[in-house]
Amino acid sequence: MAEDILAGKKIVLGVSGSIAAYKAAEIIRLCRKAGAEVKVVMTRGACEFITPLTLQTLSGSPVAMDLLDADEESAMGHITLARWADWVLIAPASANTMARIVQGRTEDLLSALCLATEAPIALAPAMNNKMWTHKATQQNLAVLSGRGNYILGPASGEQACGEEGEGRLLEPEQIIALLSQLMVPKRLVGNRVVVTAGPTHEPIDPVRYIGNRSSGKMGFELACAAVEAGAEVILITGPVHLTTPSAVCRIDVETAQQMYDAVMDISDADIVIGCAAVADYRPAEYQDKKIKKADSECSSLALIKNHDILAAVSQRKEQPFVVGFAAETDNLAEYAKDKMKAKNLDMVAANLIGKDMVFGSDMNALQVFWSEGEQTMATAFKSHLARELMTLIIERYDAKNSIKNT
Ligand code: PMT
Repeated sequence: MAEDILAGKKIVLGVSGSIAAYKAAEIIRLCRKAGAEVKVVMTRGACEFITPLTLQTLSGSPVAMDLLDADEESAMGHITLARWADWVLIAPASANTMARIVQGRTEDLLSALCLATEAPIALAPAMNNKMWTHKATQQNLAVLSGRGNYILGPASGEQACGEEGEGRLLEPEQIIALLSQLMVPKRLVGNRVVVTAGPTHEPIDPVRYIGNRSSGKMGFELACAAVEAGAEVILITGPVHLTTPSAVCRIDVETAQQMYDAVMDISDADIVIGCAAVADYRPAEYQDKKIKKADSECSSLALIKNHDILAAVSQRKEQPFVVGFAAETDNLAEYAKDKMKAKNLDMVAANLIGKDMVFGSDMNALQVFWSEGEQTMATAFKSHLARELMTLIIERYDAKNSIKNT
């Protein structure tokens, strides 16, 4: 899950005065559940909406409020907190807090901390929609973004004041998912990654096709992981029932031939990851009328071989870094390594297939091979494995490029 990236991170959560301040409690809970350490800084306004004791209990740390509180200054003053933080998340961020940060004010702890820290700052605004759309707020927003701060939301909808429109705080889960994405090191910026996913369907007649049980989940998670790493991602997918991940360019195909054409159309990919379960064969002839049960000629089906997509990609003059998958029921390592060799792959990720295992499941386990090594990735959510695999791909991709460039 995207949240895995939060493990071990030190987060200062700034809570400012808004009716949405109560959602800070859930944000703290989610951060800690994901393994992050949280220290809370509240503005005076925030304390009108939720008690420091609540947030202190949930965060497991004293809540800091006053810049000039002698006790707090000695325990964790704004400079100590500013240095401690890996990230500063301000949620909710009120119009007033945004304005104070823009002006570089230091009369309250949260604004002073923002001035003193070198940690990245993410703000999740929450306010009445007229306040949000006001020129003053929009100008502040532009200044904050221009300085490299990250703005999460706001959402649109019914507001506590009874009005409708933009200005609602994002839900805590959305804030955590966005924050996690921001935290992933962007090692693939400027790189183009092509991912294939899902099954292919090879039509027999207007009703029937040859297909397989791939759901596309593993491939879609890999596309997300590549986006998180900063890549431009093209996801070429067979027929699946999955939502397109954000910031991904999706190309839908049905057959192996269409997938082949779509992949070969992209001549400047840096990395190609073939996660699709591509049909090796297709019916030699497509029957344009439904085949009848009584039709004796159809007791057998003539098949012809499809192009091998990854084998073709790795024969290109400008060869990208090519990663294949191998789904096997037995002899996992041996068959996977054979595929790596036969298709001239840089890396192969092997998964063991069994009843209710891998295909369609949210979980998987991988054994990854490349020419100089191997790595086992234990059973985990596909989202987690995708990120782990992407880290390894980037490592090997960088290693290959550094050899090329010497
Ligand atoms: O989609 P999910 O439900 O999440 O399941 C994920 C998965 C099991 C489909 C995935 O993890 C996986 O293992 N995909 C490869 C499945 C497979 O059977 O591969 P293969 O042994 O047929 O092919 C080996 C490799 O060559 C694959 O990378 C495949 O994309 C590629 N190939 C295969 C045939 C072909 N004509 N062209 C290809 O490029």
